[in-house]
Amino acid sequence: MSNYHIKHLEEYFQVYRKSVRNPEGFWEEIAEEHFSWRKKWDRVLRWDFKKPEVTWFEGAQLNITENCLDRHLSTRGDKTALLFEPNDPKEEAQHITYRELHGRVCQMANVLKAQGVGKGDRVCIYLPMIPELAIALLACARIGAIHSVVFAGFSSIALATRINDCDCKMVITSDGSYRGNKTLDLKSIVDAALESCPGIEKVLVVQRTGNAVSMHPKRDQWLEPLLEEAPQLCEAEIMDAEDPLFILYTSGSTGKPKGMVHTCGGYMVYTAYTFKNIFQYREEDVYWCTADIGWITGHSYIVYGPLANGATTVMFEGVPSYPDFGRFWEVVQKHRVTQFYTAPTAIRALAKESLEFVERYDLSSLKVLGSVGEPINEEAWHWYNNNVGRKQSPIVDTWWQTETGGIMISPIPFVTPTTPTYATLPFIGIQPALMDEEGQELTGNQVSGRLCIKFPWPSMARTIWGDHQRYHDTYFSAYENKYFTGDGALRDAVGYYRITGRVDDVIIVSGHNLGTAPIEDSINEHPAVAESAIVGFPHDIKGNALYGFVILKEIGEGRNRENLSKEINQQITEQIGPIAKLDKIQFVSGLPKTRSGKIMRRILRKIASKDTSNLGDISTLLNPEVVEEIMENAL
Ligand code: PRX
Repeated sequence: MSNYHIKHLEEYFQVYRKSVRNPEGFWEEIAEEHFSWRKKWDRVLRWDFKKPEVTWFEGAQLNITENCLDRHLSTRGDKTALLFEPNDPKEEAQHITYRELHGRVCQMANVLKAQGVGKGDRVCIYLPMIPELAIALLACARIGAIHSVVFAGFSSIALATRINDCDCKMVITSDGSYRGNKTLDLKSIVDAALESCPGIEKVLVVQRTGNAVSMHPKRDQWLEPLLEEAPQLCEAEIMDAEDPLFILYTSGSTGKPKGMVHTCGGYMVYTAYTFKNIFQYREEDVYWCTADIGWITGHSYIVYGPLANGATTVMFEGVPSYPDFGRFWEVVQKHRVTQFYTAPTAIRALAKESLEFVERYDLSSLKVLGSVGEPINEEAWHWYNNNVGRKQSPIVDTWWQTETGGIMISPIPFVTPTTPTYATLPFIGIQPALMDEEGQELTGNQVSGRLCIKFPWPSMARTIWGDHQRYHDTYFSAYENKYFTGDGALRDAVGYYRITGRVDDVIIVSGHNLGTAPIEDSINEHPAVAESAIVGFPHDIKGNALYGFVILKEIGEGRNRENLSKEINQQITEQIGPIAKLDKIQFVSGLPKTRSGKIMRRILRKIASKDTSNLGDISTLLNPEVVEEIMENAL
């Protein structure tokens, strides 16, 4: 019997048990029955979390684009694959069929080849949410090049760091991007980045906004004329299941961003299988995930997961507030969207606006609502459930990470009874564990601890590009034989999981992962700054916002503190991007430190959150007197 589509709770438990008792047998069956392979595997799973080393479907050969495109041509050739909704509602939406998408992917793949890109080469993609972005990912996958998408809100310095880290030879970008009523000049950000990227040989530029750009004579070319001449057929490169498919960077609590490496076979199987079940996707549905393809959510649940199931997937270029706060719901009505997947930060922002923006539209097409990226608070959950879902569309609170490749803990709609703020039960094949401070696994229910996963799953990242040791140290060294997620969680009386947030120095702001260390490094480069510490504090819309405590060297002539705050944020914007700007900056004379010189962030976090009734023991601090001063002047 195929377990590809789970339809009731008993079936979930039964399939879950099977997936845990015999993971190899279980995944082999799913892989065999629902995907096309050029060659079958020799071995389903090999793993050793000590090294760590994990392989799925070793020896198998495939091309993921044959699964996402070619195999649908005979049955769904005229079905819409990508439904592009532009930033400006007056611009017409584009319905790109599977046949057309196949042709366009092949054309772009042929262009990449003609420009010297081959199997294993890294290609950086820095594009807005336009069809060419999805096409570029698939074109790379078609020829076996490894895509590294960088979110087009990152600064030129952040872009350059990512290009150089994995040694990309090409960048695909556009002349500009539309976001609400703004037009951003992406090409000049790329130009600035490339001043420090000697490895880049070619830049392909998509025309989107028509703004003037400078084209570097030997390096840069407009993409359209090249595409026009390219043939619409391109033989798919045959890939090993364990060949890298893409690199995607995520912030760590320290050091430079980590290039998570995902591979072809397991990633395809797991993203497709989770997509089918967690969105209860059916053939006639129109699925919309509002994430940007610059993040893992977009990779797995706008592009690969949906297309592998032959779905219609909406790509939205705009923002929820343009031309007004009804835009999401206008798009739902217009395209009769059936599954809607977004982030709590967007829900909170929309919940602040008049309900009229929701009530104006017919949302009766919606069947399933999704949430991802950060814990969803109870108020936002109810607002979403009552007003968008009309208490009829279950909310799937999906917990997962860039590193996990696919959704790990989530209800299955119409199958798992939901509870606000709970991600509920592990998905099929996922074996979570909660660990206490001593490194012991907490068994039984009604416990809370650090969330680990104790058995491999097909879409887990295999390494950090160029730094396998760091992969080991970050994820596999805290607890023996377990993948450590960096999150805290509790398991309630019925075994449901609730994710309580990060337990390391990563802060999630508006659903974006931000490491404190790179932001502090950026602040410390300001000539007036001696030292700084960043912590998160609760924010109505963003979930968390950033609070910086900054020690100045000396302010210097003609500078005041207000200007300095602006300069510090300007510097962060230039080095990382506007998403990492600080909401509050407090200038302090010292930072609370332990005798070994470590900043006691716990205290700063409490001060930033205005929760100073119990600061805990501060007598062990090197400089307890500074705490009083910081508290008095807290913002
Ligand atoms: O802390 C968890 C939070 O987001 C982190 C992963 O971020 P990133 O790699 O950017 O991937 C985001 C999209 C998958 C996690 O370690 N997180 C993600 N989803 C949830 C969540 N926290 C609570 N509930 C969620 N549903």
